[in-house]
Amino acid sequence: MAYDLVIKGANLVTAADSFVADIAISKGKIAAVGQIDAGGAKVIEARGLIAVPGGIDVHTHFDMPFMGATTADDFATGSAGAVFGGTTSVVDFAIQKRGESLREALDTWHKKAEGNSLVDYAFHMIIVDLPEKRVKEMDDMIKEGVSSFKLFMAYPGIFMSDDATIFRALSRTKENGGMICMHAENGGVIDVLVQKALAAGQIEPKYHALTRPMSAEAEATRRAIALAEMAGVPIYFVHLSAGDAMDEVRRARERGAPVFAETCPQYLYLSYDDYERPGFEGAKFVMSPPLRPKGNEERLWKGLVRNDLQVVSTDHCSFCMKASGKKIGKELGKDSFAKIPNGAPGVETRLLLLWDAVSKGKITANRFVEITSTTPAKLFGLYPRKGHLSPGADADIVLINPKKKHTISVKTHHTAADYNPYEGKTVDGSISHVFIRGKHMVDGDKFVGSKSQGQFLRRPPRNFN
Ligand code: URP
Ligand code: ZN
Ligand code: ZN
Repeated sequence: MAYDLVIKGANLVTAADSFVADIAISKGKIAAVGQIDAGGAKVIEARGLIAVPGGIDVHTHFDMPFMGATTADDFATGSAGAVFGGTTSVVDFAIQKRGESLREALDTWHKKAEGNSLVDYAFHMIIVDLPEKRVKEMDDMIKEGVSSFKLFMAYPGIFMSDDATIFRALSRTKENGGMICMHAENGGVIDVLVQKALAAGQIEPKYHALTRPMSAEAEATRRAIALAEMAGVPIYFVHLSAGDAMDEVRRARERGAPVFAETCPQYLYLSYDDYERPGFEGAKFVMSPPLRPKGNEERLWKGLVRNDLQVVSTDHCSFCMKASGKKIGKELGKDSFAKIPNGAPGVETRLLLLWDAVSKGKITANRFVEITSTTPAKLFGLYPRKGHLSPGADADIVLINPKKKHTISVKTHHTAADYNPYEGKTVDGSISHVFIRGKHMVDGDKFVGSKSQGQFLRRPPRNFN
């Protein structure tokens, strides 16, 4: 068989195995794995490099209007960060506006992404308005390849759904096979705490964290699990931050409930202490849920090892600290932490930070692949096309140089935010090559691919219960 490209002699790491092999690519797919005669194909020498399936980030917000601002990254810059960071597919969140149909919201997000994304992309649908008459629109989304929906128990007046709405949506997924992704924080309680803090003149960024306690996340997680159990369906928790919330997930899984959760690198590497940085610097870390007190991160690392947590995504939601051009930034909240646009960048650094954890012995290389690619692909209908290095899969391949260190900095990142939450952190390992569907996209620090080649990924409904 004639191949287009052969990657020679890499250390392949999958969720299950590690072995040295060649990878042959033909027509954008992995054609063979083993000892391969390249014939006339182009050869990439990869001895000493680690080959993993392209990263899948199932939680990004590109070109998202939120809290009076719009994210610094659109699909062009966000996907540039993704590809340089070894993420070859993202699942972004389309947002329904109040009164709008899910179809209109989906059309808007297709327009934002089409022709702009360097990486392959899919959508979850954020539902904010679900009266009984709209419930069947969820089925239409599934036919469009959008098989997951995010609901919020936080952000009253913006995104928050009441229990009846949540239960209605969960119940519909029993019939249509969709998956509900839940932002679990008790928005009502948080709102009371926020108003109290503001009335006492507590306006600095750190009060964002102090008004969103761990127990507000744990309570909402427990309630959402109960609602999912009553509806008899799986549920997936996004950006789980608190060890106490993770314990709720673990307890549910121990009794056999199909409950899944992701955490994000910020909750593994940063902490409440970052809000105590001088001046307005803490605003860089204002996100929801907030960073937690030191010690919490060790609980999450243990949870990742024990499979209490199944996925690490980023919740990439970047805002500049200072307005640039027409884009408003976090300075919007100079006089009130409650007005700081929530979110931080992360899509470019997820694989680097987690490979560093492999190097430091916190997780195995196989677990790295499982939580960054294979399990997200399985949970969100992308497997076996994505998430695995085996014949027939898309040739989305990342080569990591485990010997080269990388220092994270706003000076070298490719996303649009004017800061990096991990500024100056040096990690073991660097992204050496990135291929998407067999196309060479990144070679060291150079972009060698073609622009706007990302494809929309239709995702079928779940096939597990
Ligand atoms: O602070 C965050 N996480 N911003 C993005 C919106 C969300 O809740 O995911
Ligand atoms: Zn959220
Ligand atoms: Zn998010």
